[in-house]
Amino acid sequence: MASRDPARTVQSSATARSTNEEGESRHADIVDVDEDVDSAFEDGDNVSYSSLRDDYWGPSDEQQYETLNAGHVLYLVLDSNQPNPLFRSPITSPLYVLDIGTGPGTWAIDVADQFSAATVYGVDLSPPPATWVPPNCFLQVDDVLQDWTWREEFDLIHMRLMLGAFTDTEWGAVYKKCFDNLRSGGYIEQIELDVRVMSDDGSLDPDSLLAGWGQNFLDCAQRAGRPLDTQLTMKAKIEAAGFVDVQEHLYKCPIGAWPKDPLLKDAGRINLAHWSSGLEGWAMFLLTRWGAPEPWTADEARVYVAKVREELKKRRLHIWHYT
Ligand SMILES: C[S@@+](CC[C@H](N)C(=O)[O-])C[C@H]1O[C@@H](n2cnc3c(N)ncnc32)[C@H](O)[C@@H]1O
Repeated sequence: MASRDPARTVQSSATARSTNEEGESRHADIVDVDEDVDSAFEDGDNVSYSSLRDDYWGPSDEQQYETLNAGHVLYLVLDSNQPNPLFRSPITSPLYVLDIGTGPGTWAIDVADQFSAATVYGVDLSPPPATWVPPNCFLQVDDVLQDWTWREEFDLIHMRLMLGAFTDTEWGAVYKKCFDNLRSGGYIEQIELDVRVMSDDGSLDPDSLLAGWGQNFLDCAQRAGRPLDTQLTMKAKIEAAGFVDVQEHLYKCPIGAWPKDPLLKDAGRINLAHWSSGLEGWAMFLLTRWGAPEPWTADEARVYVAKVREELKKRRLHIWHYT
């Protein structure tokens, strides 16, 4: 979270929320393993939606929305011990809120529900599948790289999992627009995740496909010109846009119900569903357009995903990623 102060930036990186508050380090410590646990996941069906751009790496289909909804719950669980699990910014009665890249609009809808006096906009390249939204929530289809049409000065602008959406230059432009469209003293808050999977106890075989997964996609995205390392780079870019008081919180986010800690166990269980539902959608565009040494065929990408999926199911895997 960070502020524009003119407006502050609450930068929460999807578990890389930036903040220096005490007591936040628990998520970044070594996570104790519950020895008595197993994991499993299921697949889902799919329907696609239109998008304003054809160069964004993520799909806009039922499967992706299911993944994003799991991600939404994941982040609520990770911050369930916070005063407001929806955002860190110290805002108690916002009037205008904007959610950039709102996807299914779940975050925007929840914020509108919580603050009935606020007007909450969610904007995305694709129309949201939501059939009902609160009367103070407006889910709009637009490209935030184009001119902004909102007249309001926002109290809070939120982004979550926008990794790989913009080039470095575009990120600079987006943060500047955020700064210019926040009221003085308003906040920007962003949650991102690091796509690299890790383990502390060697349970992740360094030669496994899962261990190489993150770097594979970081490399694809680099070739595409829209880096996926947003979690690592956003703080500097937010500061460069003029925000002050930038705070970052970094979490170790488990995949699987292996941690002992009940909150992390819950988070890990949900995150396994998040990953298992997301794998194929995350992989297809980047591998088939930017895979190395040549773009992969769709079949090659599917076989790879299937193998990674098998690895994810393995017991005794104490894996996590930063967020
Ligand atoms: C990974 S999804 C995250 C969705 C949502 N923030 C969440 O956490 O559930 C990223 C979203 O950003 C949207 N997006 C990408 N580029 C965009 C742009 N230029 N303008 C508006 N939305 C964009 C995509 O369409 C996609 O729905």
